[in-house]
Amino acid sequence: MTKPFALRDLVDDRPQDGVFRVNRALFRDPDLFALEMKHVFEGGWVFVGLATQAENPHDYFTGFIGRVPIIVQRDGDGVLRCFVNACPHKGVRLIQKLCGNARRHVCPYHSWTFDSTGANKNIKWQKAGCYGAGFDEDNHDLASVAKFGEYRGFLFASLNPNVPSLEDYLGEARKLIDLVVDKSPEGLELVPGRVTFTYAANWKMQLENCSDQYHFTSTHPSYIRILDQRAREQSAEVVQSSIGAADFWQEDASGTTGGTMSFDHGHVLNWGIMPVSAALPEYEHAEEWAQLHGVAKRNWMFNMRNLTIFPNLQIADNASSQMRVIRPIAAGLTEMQTWCLAPRGESAEARRFRIRQYEDFFNPTGMATPDDTVCYEEAQLGMAEQDRPWLQGHARGLTASVEGGNDYSDMIDMKPARSVLADAQLCDESLFGNYYRAWADRMAEVLS
Ligand code: FES
Ligand SMILES: [Fe+2]
Repeated sequence: MTKPFALRDLVDDRPQDGVFRVNRALFRDPDLFALEMKHVFEGGWVFVGLATQAENPHDYFTGFIGRVPIIVQRDGDGVLRCFVNACPHKGVRLIQKLCGNARRHVCPYHSWTFDSTGANKNIKWQKAGCYGAGFDEDNHDLASVAKFGEYRGFLFASLNPNVPSLEDYLGEARKLIDLVVDKSPEGLELVPGRVTFTYAANWKMQLENCSDQYHFTSTHPSYIRILDQRAREQSAEVVQSSIGAADFWQEDASGTTGGTMSFDHGHVLNWGIMPVSAALPEYEHAEEWAQLHGVAKRNWMFNMRNLTIFPNLQIADNASSQMRVIRPIAAGLTEMQTWCLAPRGESAEARRFRIRQYEDFFNPTGMATPDDTVCYEEAQLGMAEQDRPWLQGHARGLTASVEGGNDYSDMIDMKPARSVLADAQLCDESLFGNYYRAWADRMAEVLS
């Protein structure tokens, strides 16, 4: 039975008093979890994958919208569709593999068969089945999801037909997707191989961590130390140096090192000025991009950027590029899949460099992501605290946050709802408020 939660007891949002607080129950309560699956994940747009993950006829990949398994499949004519990955017969998940290529899918339980358009092609021993007219009149095809859309190769789907258009949903944050896609006229691809992290903590820990600049020097000192050590050891003959710790904290003439931006529907960006330097795999295109896109956009393409498209897609662009997809499993259990994201057509040397720097930071063997996941699990233990429900992790930067954009968003004609400009130590946490306001908007349908 649903507990009588009131939204104001979960998200304490009082800008006039300088207060923004989040209740620990959001991270641990199973009833709240079920509600947010229904209203946040299954009630709105979620990211399902890249079009290049199913590039050829009959390619498919599988995933989840909230708790519901799905298939994204390209048919023989090249049309992409998204189905619920459940057999109409008894609900068995039709495809268990993460991806593949198949003209036909045969259900493992009683062999009902479907083609790559989702149409039912065979019901085993149908003629001998003594089915009634009602059964014959039923549609036996795979169920399409209510909404399926693409923005520049990024695929999104919704189980709820009553959602804004995908264009409206992404809004101004589309310009940040453009910065990633415009790295190559041939578009993006995933470097083969993916990593699945499963951690014993709530999905919102990952959501926040991606936009959390405050933790970087505290959680990742080993990464920073090794970068510094490499920088000291690099000889003059090294043509392409690897990224240095100082590259993350560049300051411009105004003392700004970066900042944050919040967009409608819960999307956020935190960003930092990074030099156009040979320490990034993109360097081979620096001049070309300046000519193609203008210097301001080119510089933004080099900046460190952590973008979250609420609620489940994160793109981290720094020493390399990573795509993360969040899948909540239970209030205290989350799966995150990660890929190295790369522009098509880059040189073998740039690709090698991208992968090496990716491994440094992100992989399970890397020096950063594992530190983060340990912190999520430690935080989840602390979420058990009942007597003092309010966390104090969402107030930093509150007085620096302004409505609208700033000179930096103007450079690429982007209009965020709110923004913060920062020096190296501000490390704004007020952008998390954008997540919880979007969360509260959806949950307002069911909570008083
Ligand atoms: S559950 Fe799929 S054929 Fe029976
Ligand atoms: Fe981190």
